[in-house]
Amino acid sequence: MTNQPAQAVPELPVDMIIFGGGGDLAARKLLPALYMAHLHGNLPPETRIIAVGRKNWSIDDYRAFMEEQSRPFIDAKAFDEQAWGRYLDLFQYVIIDVNDPGDYERLAQTSRKHALRVFYLSTSPELFMTICDNLAAAHLLDKHSRVVLEKPLGHDLASAKEINASVGRHFAESQIYRIDHYLGKETVQNLMVLRFGNPIFGPLWQAPYIRSVQITVAETVGVGSRAGFYDHTGALRDMVQNHLLQLLCFVAMEPPVSLNPDAVRDEKLKVLRSLRPMSVADIARDTVRGQYAAGAVDGQPVKGYLEEDNVPAGSKAETFVALRAHINNWRWANVPFFLRTGKRMQKRQSEIVIEFADLPFSIFPSGPRNYGNRLVIQLQPEESIQLQMLAKEPGSGMNMLPVSLNLDLQQAIPERRAEAYERLLVDVIRGRLTHFMRRDELEAAWGWVEPILDGWKELNDRPRIYTAGTFGPAASSALLAREGMSWAEEA
Ligand code: BG6
Repeated sequence: MTNQPAQAVPELPVDMIIFGGGGDLAARKLLPALYMAHLHGNLPPETRIIAVGRKNWSIDDYRAFMEEQSRPFIDAKAFDEQAWGRYLDLFQYVIIDVNDPGDYERLAQTSRKHALRVFYLSTSPELFMTICDNLAAAHLLDKHSRVVLEKPLGHDLASAKEINASVGRHFAESQIYRIDHYLGKETVQNLMVLRFGNPIFGPLWQAPYIRSVQITVAETVGVGSRAGFYDHTGALRDMVQNHLLQLLCFVAMEPPVSLNPDAVRDEKLKVLRSLRPMSVADIARDTVRGQYAAGAVDGQPVKGYLEEDNVPAGSKAETFVALRAHINNWRWANVPFFLRTGKRMQKRQSEIVIEFADLPFSIFPSGPRNYGNRLVIQLQPEESIQLQMLAKEPGSGMNMLPVSLNLDLQQAIPERRAEAYERLLVDVIRGRLTHFMRRDELEAAWGWVEPILDGWKELNDRPRIYTAGTFGPAASSALLAREGMSWAEEA
């Protein structure tokens, strides 16, 4: 492929500074990801990692925290005692109350003067502005600095704009890395190769050859210990505004002129801006909110959402969303995009289903009616591609049976797949912005989602209850059935 962005190894030594270093995301995702990057030689020499937290810890306390809270999240097969020991040596711990400007002096003393400083803000977004202001006041920012912003990036369009404006006062857009970890998944990046590396799909990838697109991100986990966050967030903000819309962009975008960050992000932005705004009537007809009730997942009984810890009585938060979106442009006119995500569903499965148009006319006497070929791109848990087709049933007639061409990508290419956070952290260090959201993309996504939130409020929409361990409320199936379609697992 041409126009590959440069894979620059920074010339300056890197100080990776993690705000929220003692937090849950650091323990579960960031520290294991950096360990893997270290193990595979993807951290530049002389990298140092400075964890910043409020807790009154020594570096030994911090290392003990890593042993207890982070090590269990490293794949046991990839664990190497010596590499882990060397990894622990890269760390420093600095105690900071982020609201106290004086505390940043400690960070200024710890971070090297001529380092490329990467600030990873894994804190509540309300603190981003204060942290950036205080970093600037402590003279910790320069033209090399980079900042990584963890989601949620706002609660609505206004708050997203506010975050962007406050961070933008201190960092140029080219220094800002807004994380959507789905963009770091190999399988998601592979969508670009599937679409733009395989000419076979080019002519077919549009209306009228495609009848519908389904994008499902189903999880089996419940809300766990995150109700405090989740209950005022809900599935639309938590998953659709970012992950599902990003997947939709990869399916729907025009070929970018190159793989340069702005070329790719320009095309995604065009898709987001072409999403047809939903009126209140559209919202009532084309969206389904759900909430799980007690049931069983993987054979184990599980609680309903309302019985989970810290969920307020009578909460109306949605743990499931299905909706029908439209893209107002030439390529996709009248092709429905069905998006669906939920917690406590029957199985963990993220997939994109491209349903091709029916035959204009069938010369065969029998066989499944209205059969469209389907391309099923499975992203999680396994990475596979299936092309569903019809073949002749052996025998004297000309009966047809559905069969499928299956490509197991893990088997075809057995190489190690780095976890999303590992890929993205290495991208930040190397200055590769392609798989991070640009300011205008984030705002366009909020611009489309916010009216849905407002519409639900106006309609006083209560979530429909679904039993944990199913694929969501019946209304979700009805959304497709009314157009003579069905979700992939129901076909
Ligand atoms: C996060 C959401 O962004 O993505 C979580 O906040 C969700 O609620 C998670 O569980 C899903 O990510 P993955 O990589 O497990 O599909």
